[in-house]
Amino acid sequence: MSESGDFLARGLAMTTPHPLGERIVRASGSWLETESGERLFDMVSGVGVSNLGHGHPAIAAALRDQLDQHLHVMVYGEYAQEAQDRAANRLLEGLSPLGLDAVYFVNSGAEAIEGAMKLARRVTGRTEILGVEGGYHGSTFGALSLSTPSHRRNAFLPLLPDVSHIPFGSEAALQSITQGTAAVFVETIQGDAGVRSLSNAHLVALRKRCSEVGALLVLDEIQCGLGRTGYLHAFQRTGVVPDVLVLGKALGGGMPIGAFVTSKKRMASLSEAPKLGHITTFGGHPMACAACAAFLEELVKLDWLQIRSTGERWKAALSDHPAVKEVRGHGHFLGVDLDGPERVSRLVAAARSRGLVLFWFLSRPQGFRLAPPLNASLDDMNQALALLLDALDEVQK
Ligand SMILES: Cc1ncc(COP(=O)(O)O)c(C=O)c1O
Repeated sequence: MSESGDFLARGLAMTTPHPLGERIVRASGSWLETESGERLFDMVSGVGVSNLGHGHPAIAAALRDQLDQHLHVMVYGEYAQEAQDRAANRLLEGLSPLGLDAVYFVNSGAEAIEGAMKLARRVTGRTEILGVEGGYHGSTFGALSLSTPSHRRNAFLPLLPDVSHIPFGSEAALQSITQGTAAVFVETIQGDAGVRSLSNAHLVALRKRCSEVGALLVLDEIQCGLGRTGYLHAFQRTGVVPDVLVLGKALGGGMPIGAFVTSKKRMASLSEAPKLGHITTFGGHPMACAACAAFLEELVKLDWLQIRSTGERWKAALSDHPAVKEVRGHGHFLGVDLDGPERVSRLVAAARSRGLVLFWFLSRPQGFRLAPPLNASLDDMNQALALLLDALDEVQK
């Protein structure tokens, strides 16, 4: 293993025995720069984080301004902080008319899921929480309880009681959502299962069933949200509105932040009986919120039609390649299947040798993800597609 890939030798925890191991010294726009000065086109965006590329000037400026004002001043929810207000106003602008008019800022996607799980139990007084097979919601105990597949969970049992999973896309299984169910958590588009979408009809039926029995519908858009699909929020493609929307990853423009959004009425339940029902020291950190506000301000300026049409063009071009078995997704959020994990690994290496960074999925070994920055230039995107097709030619031989 290369020195840069041997985290443990340097005293750092490893998450995988086979990390990419590049040593990145600089990143700007859609490009990463290695210590040898090589420039790599980022087709991963740090797994759905750098939606406006790296080091966006407006986000960098907002961070500098905030740095001059103040860093952490108090645990979340005590002092009024301008950066939090700005981030909340930006985020809620389009969501408030849908009844999603209050946001709780936390530090990560998993923490936002934990908060939403607690909220669901607190609001409904029920204990059962359902996930959907194939979902990934994070690595903390609650979020892991909601996630599949089971081999990821088994080493850590017992997980949270009263949490189980309904089969993906099964109409019949909707009947297992009952008046004992506090909430159903589902990714609007499953990311780490390989960019896999429930049909619109199924999402509508799921929404209807939740409303019938008084269970909350929680949409996890931590990976698929905030512009990835060519829509500000992925649920806007579907016409289904959640009771709780969970965000993370791209939300901080490269800074760590997560959030769950719901109605003011529901959110109020977290500050009463018990008081301080959900608390966090660093949630709503002023630097993360300043970056978040700047990110959201810039995000809405994107050309959504171009992002959607680029996605369609890439899907068509990739589907035509003989090495490709299936392409799924929308906009700059695509999953591509080859005939097995071995060919995917060869492709990742072939793309790397052409200056393109590709990445795997957690739960779909025969697939790889394409999630370039949303503001990548058309020239860069065209060149990247040509290089990717060339790399596919190589691994097809
Ligand atoms: C859909 C989804 N939910 C939740 C999470 C967890 O977010 P975090 O890694 O910030 O805890 C992820 C992370 O990949 C995710 O893709």
